[in-house]
Amino acid sequence: MTKLRIAIGSDHGGYEMKQNLIKFLKENNYECNDVGNYNGEAVDYPLIAQKLAKEVTLGKFDRGILLCGSGLGMAIAANKIKNIKAVTCHDTYSAKMSRAHNNANVLTLGARVIGIELAKDVVKIWLESEFEGGRHQRRVDLIE
Ligand code: RB5
Repeated sequence: MTKLRIAIGSDHGGYEMKQNLIKFLKENNYECNDVGNYNGEAVDYPLIAQKLAKEVTLGKFDRGILLCGSGLGMAIAANKIKNIKAVTCHDTYSAKMSRAHNNANVLTLGARVIGIELAKDVVKIWLESEFEGGRHQRRVDLIE
């Protein structure tokens, strides 16, 4: 299987979790590219969401992971970009189904909602789950 090209970004609310997830992804042999914020200082989340989402939609990355306090603002902002299907998942079932049925290409997490161990499980399952296609492709096409 081709190695996934992953981008990861956060605002200040998700900065610490992002740093932990970068370490986790590297330990699990994923290549991930940090699109910022790079120092944990306050930053407006739509700017990071748009930066990452544009790079995913242009094909520079296959998948994106965005973190903020709730995960919600990042998803709303990323979904404004064409061909982006961003989902907020705080449980492993949603993470799996967002890939299997929805072909989500951006995952958003709320660092003030779940802890790092659950976040690692959600990220791993989301990255490993495949889109099932078939009738789900028709439904995704209807969205687009
Ligand atoms: C920042 O305080 C917070 O609003 C942001 O991280 C995010 O949760 C927005 O949706």
